[in-house]
Amino acid sequence: MNQLHDTSRVVALVPAAGRGVRLGESMPKAFVPVGGSPMLTLATDGLIASGVVDHIVIAAPAELLDEARILLGHRAEPACPVPVSVVAGGAERTDSVRAGIAAAPQATHFLVHDAARALTPPSMIARVVAELKSGCPAVVPGLPVADTIKSVDADGEVTGTPDRSVLRAIQTPQGFDGQLLRDAYAAGMHATDDAGLVEAFGARVRVIPGDPLAFKITTPLDLRLARTLLAERDTPGRTEIFEQLNTVTR
Ligand code: C5P
Repeated sequence: MNQLHDTSRVVALVPAAGRGVRLGESMPKAFVPVGGSPMLTLATDGLIASGVVDHIVIAAPAELLDEARILLGHRAEPACPVPVSVVAGGAERTDSVRAGIAAAPQATHFLVHDAARALTPPSMIARVVAELKSGCPAVVPGLPVADTIKSVDADGEVTGTPDRSVLRAIQTPQGFDGQLLRDAYAAGMHATDDAGLVEAFGARVRVIPGDPLAFKITTPLDLRLARTLLAERDTPGRTEIFEQLNTVTR
């Protein structure tokens, strides 16, 4: 948590209002359990455990606000050092983030973190905030890509093969100066991630090393992997798998 002289307010926005069609489950993705806890709860607990977040705003499906509040209820108790608010998300991810921004006028810095990245290590969240507080206006975690990436046209013809060594697969949480993110959203541009909006707005974005455990649970295979990893972690003597994964990018 913040030092006495630190007047910053780090607000984590958690877009959790997606349907999760690609996951093929009967409930919205953020409510799907992994190791007995919904992704939404796991992601929120990771943010709290990082010790660098002052407030968390969850954007949940409009019809499931009560369910989200019940799931997160004990985190709203005075015993929890980080207040958690729940707001209604929107049709697109950007609508959900916009609703979160509006609910946090006090934020000096924002983290935007997908609920679907439920296994993100708290240490990586802390690294993003440390970089942000050192003066970077926009910070994103990223990993080198393992596959060769090609661009294609509408007929599937290859139009280019970018140099893989300069590519990064970008994760969350993405960290931003508070006013920069507000201004980028107010400009009404479109991008597939929040850093893309800020880049289109002309701001510089720094990539720091991501973590394999911050993968986004999108497909049934991802869900199996996440459940297996949590089961391994909770099995005595198997924590080394997490430790090994955590050292891969350090
Ligand atoms: O669909 P995708 O995996 O890219 O979603 C990333 C995150 O954005 C998920 O946590 C999802 O719940 C959230 N989202 C949202 N509102 C939407 C669509 C997605 O909060 N309308």
